[in-house]
Amino acid sequence: MPQIVIPRYRIRAVDARDDETADILIELHRLTFFSGASVPPFDCGHWWLAYRGETPVAFAGVVPSTHVRNAGYFCRVGVLQPHWGHRLQLRLMRAMEARARWNGWSRVVSDTTANVPSANNFIRAGYRMFRPSLPWAFPDTLYWQKNILVSRF
Ligand SMILES: CC(C)(COP(=O)(O)OP(=O)(O)OC[C@H]1O[C@@H](n2cnc3c(N)ncnc32)[C@H](O)[C@@H]1OP(=O)(O)O)[C@@H](O)C(=O)NCCC(=O)NCCS
Repeated sequence: MPQIVIPRYRIRAVDARDDETADILIELHRLTFFSGASVPPFDCGHWWLAYRGETPVAFAGVVPSTHVRNAGYFCRVGVLQPHWGHRLQLRLMRAMEARARWNGWSRVVSDTTANVPSANNFIRAGYRMFRPSLPWAFPDTLYWQKNILVSRF
């Protein structure tokens, strides 16, 4: 009987102020966004890498929101194309939300522009669309938010 091999991925929080890690993030950003988005502030916020074996294949990051009070802004997620379809965005978002809760943020906000796979992952992860008082992106951008405060009662 043929064996089905399920690829294993590990998510790891990384220190993006470390030069080697920053280089990996910059390269993954280049390979996933091409020239479609500016290089984010890797020296700010919290960053994660997803590894297949020892190879980094995806990344994500959250920074404090400059538009919404006491919220994290999930500013980037990218998965190398050969690794699409393994729910890595969703797994990276779970890690990111745990950190956002730890920080005491009450919300995570983000946005997608013409990006069905990513929007579907926001829906899967329990995000709702909202209209920011000052929309920060493009006219066709969808804005997402999730309340993440854990009730202590
Ligand atoms: C958006 C992104 C992170 C999703 O990657 P992912 O976590 O691997 O996606 P999922 O596991 O949810 O994939 C679900 C399905 O959509 C497909 N899919 C994923 N990304 C896709 C894309 N960009 N275009 C077309 N199909 C895509 C997967 O192959 C999978 O198909 P299947 O159900 O037939 O197997 C990835 O497409 C990506 O890095 N895109 C470039 C950067 C980007 O757009 N980032 C998000 C900015 S808002």
